[in-house]
Amino acid sequence: MARSPQLTAIALVLLCAAAIMAAPAKEDVDSYSFPVFNANTTDVLWVATNKTVVQGASLLFQPERPFPEVNASDGFLLLPGQVDLWRAGDDGGVPAREASFNTSFTVESSATPVSFVILLDKFPTFNNPAGLRGANGSNTGAVPNATADGLAAVEVGTVKSYAPESPDVGLNVTVTPNGTAEAAVWIEYDAVAHLLHVYVGAAGGEPRPAKALLDTPLSLAGQGTPQTSPIGFFAGQGTTQTALVGLFAGTVRDIFDGVRDWDLTVDSFDGKNKKKGTSWWVILIAVLGSVVAAAAIVSLVVWCFVSRRRARTMEPIPKL
Ligand SMILES: *[C@@H]1O[C@H](CO)[C@@H](O)[C@H](O)[C@H]1NC(C)=O
Ligand SMILES: *[C@@H]1O[C@H](CO)[C@@H](O)[C@H](O)[C@H]1NC(C)=O
Ligand SMILES: *[C@@H]1O[C@H](CO)[C@@H](O)[C@H](O)[C@H]1NC(C)=O
Ligand SMILES: *[C@@H]1O[C@H](CO)[C@@H](O)[C@H](O)[C@H]1NC(C)=O
Ligand SMILES: *[C@@H]1O[C@H](CO)[C@@H](O)[C@H](O)[C@H]1NC(C)=O
Ligand SMILES: *[C@@H]1O[C@H](CO)[C@@H](O)[C@H](O)[C@H]1NC(C)=O
Ligand SMILES: *[C@@H]1O[C@H](CO)[C@@H](O)[C@H](O)[C@H]1NC(C)=O
Ligand SMILES: *[C@@H]1O[C@H](CO)[C@@H](O)[C@H](O)[C@H]1NC(C)=O
Repeated sequence: MARSPQLTAIALVLLCAAAIMAAPAKEDVDSYSFPVFNANTTDVLWVATNKTVVQGASLLFQPERPFPEVNASDGFLLLPGQVDLWRAGDDGGVPAREASFNTSFTVESSATPVSFVILLDKFPTFNNPAGLRGANGSNTGAVPNATADGLAAVEVGTVKSYAPESPDVGLNVTVTPNGTAEAAVWIEYDAVAHLLHVYVGAAGGEPRPAKALLDTPLSLAGQGTPQTSPIGFFAGQGTTQTALVGLFAGTVRDIFDGVRDWDLTVDSFDGKNKKKGTSWWVILIAVLGSVVAAAAIVSLVVWCFVSRRRARTMEPIPKL
């Protein structure tokens, strides 16, 4: 008796799910990879602006072009949920664990400045009169600063989007391409040494340059308080134990169009190898390839706070 296509599809899903669960743990890192940002790759990503959160960035690529103002606003493209960055010690003193991470991406030659950012455990303050960039765009901390062989300028600083309560938090590594050539960027954080390294090289699959363009002390543990260390000023000014991680640009569209080959690996505290972004419903959609399944399973959540005049602080959101 011939089985229906639906049953076959469900059987395939179960097989895939079983295969994934049976896959042995390899390394204790969580990895994320986005070769391009388009309608097919951004289902799992979130977009946050000063007014809106779109959970399911692929919504912005629909032919109907909904929410054009989101694309045109400055904003963030974020991993869904939060990333584990550090764990407090028992006595609340020295952190018990801190995660190292590596991230790399290519910035198109024509791109406007693009930032890799680590935020807090909540969305930036909605309708913040200071905007996502903070009041006056002022930089309070020392900002290490360098230029790589004319390819791109790199600035390391903080995220201003939670001003005035927390004017300088997390990490903000901003890359400005020189306008004529693509730049490949590698950002590596060694949590043991508390050092951040930023490398810039030619795009096109070249290996990472041996020498970093910029090395700076960094500690992400500690909540928004300026930190000093025996080795100097920390570039970041602390974030929550789990935090939103992603990219920022002058318009959300600039991220979609200006960045490709975004990879991120983060030490996993859970000691299990989870391929994030491949949850069961993604597999289901891939297997069924059906718009109906996609519509039924993916809940696209859009929160708009257009009518709110008051700045609104978000509650912490669930962990990834
Ligand atoms: C998305 O996937 C569909 C089906 O494989 C394909 O036809 C379409 O060209 C893809 N879109 C993009 C932007 O890659
Ligand atoms: C947002 O920008 C992307 C990339 O340029 C584009 O493909 C998409 O159609 C835009 N969506 C809207 C709603 O403007
Ligand atoms: C980051 O890359 C370095 C090599 O440059 C490697 O030793 C380290 O294990 C990597 N860490 C993560 C979290 O991927
Ligand atoms: C929010 O972003 C839009 C588009 O960039 C801008 O016009 C508006 O002034 C911003 N609002 C605040 C409160 O920053
Ligand atoms: C911008 O800076 C000026 C001078 O430091 C200050 O008076 C003003 O309040 C700042 N604006 C905001 C929105 O914080
Ligand atoms: C970064 O370097 C440029 C060029 O050397 C300089 O004009 C700028 O003031 C520097 N910025 C900071 C924050 O040090
Ligand atoms: C940009 O970088 C490329 C590659 O290094 C170089 O050939 C070009 O002269 C640079 N342009 C500027 C304006 O610095
Ligand atoms: C990140 O840093 C850049 C360069 O200093 C700045 O222009 C941008 O506004 C910052 N972004 C956020 C979200 O704080």
